[in-house]
Amino acid sequence: MYKAALITGGTRGIGRAIAESIAPMHKNLCLVYNNDEESALATKKAIESTTDTKVFLYKFDLSNLHEIEGLVEKIYSDVSEISTLVNNAGVILSPGGWMEQSISDFERSIAINFTSVAVLTKFIVPQMIEKKHGRIINLSSTYAINGAVPVLSYTCAKSAVTTLTTALAAELGQYSITVNAIAPGNIDTDMTSSAGKEIIDWAISTTPIGRLGKAEEVGKVAKYLIESPFITGTTQVVDGGQILKI
Ligand SMILES: NC(=O)c1ccc[n+]([C@@H]2O[C@H](COP(=O)([O-])OP(=O)(O)OC[C@H]3O[C@@H](n4cnc5c(N)ncnc54)[C@H](OP(=O)(O)O)[C@@H]3O)[C@@H](O)[C@H]2O)c1
Repeated sequence: MYKAALITGGTRGIGRAIAESIAPMHKNLCLVYNNDEESALATKKAIESTTDTKVFLYKFDLSNLHEIEGLVEKIYSDVSEISTLVNNAGVILSPGGWMEQSISDFERSIAINFTSVAVLTKFIVPQMIEKKHGRIINLSSTYAINGAVPVLSYTCAKSAVTTLTTALAAELGQYSITVNAIAPGNIDTDMTSSAGKEIIDWAISTTPIGRLGKAEEVGKVAKYLIESPFITGTTQVVDGGQILKI
């Protein structure tokens, strides 16, 4: 049983499924969300009523990069140690022509989808090094592989997440810290439904398994990575084979 897992965006969609999947392995879960308090409270209630795991909630906008250190201090005042870090929070801002995307949306997209991952990891890793144990899982995307133009700032950020993953895996292996990425294809969450029917139909038609993925299917991969001390520096694609067709 590990002390605690910190999951950003752990209160909805894939993050919630990861939280539910790994809760029985951790005494505490620290879940960061941005706005949706109702989902946050519902997730806490669901986990605490079905497991012995205590859930701490933190409302925090990860685009506030200079305040992440303060968030980490608050988390360490609630739990003494983070054994597992899941950098899951992500957002697609103003999809469409990349020439039309405003500089401020571009900056915010990179801040939430990439820079916050690097900054949060920087503040969590020293204590993992001290304990000589840690699991870091970063949510990338298959879109990072083909650079989907309609969501270009998002895909560039996710591509940087993959690079961060391999670089840190090489550096941190000596402390028994593993760093892996998960690259989902199209998973049935609010992020996908907000893309609209046309995109969903396209996703299903280009996926050999013939459907959207389920958030729980990503949650199982996260659990597997936490249980696997000899897997590091990898990107686990969870896409029903879509990458073979697009
Ligand atoms: N769904 C897919 O098909 C798919 C495919 C590839 C990769 N991914 C990646 O998988 C991860 C989870 O996706 P999802 O589909 O589960 O997304 P989702 O359903 O939209 O949930 C996003 C989560 O991230 C949180 N979040 C967003 N912006 C934040 C911010 N600025 N600060 C703090 N938290 C923030 C949200 O908090 P609130 O609830 O408060 O808004 C929510 O908990 C993301 O990194 C996404 O890019 C998803």
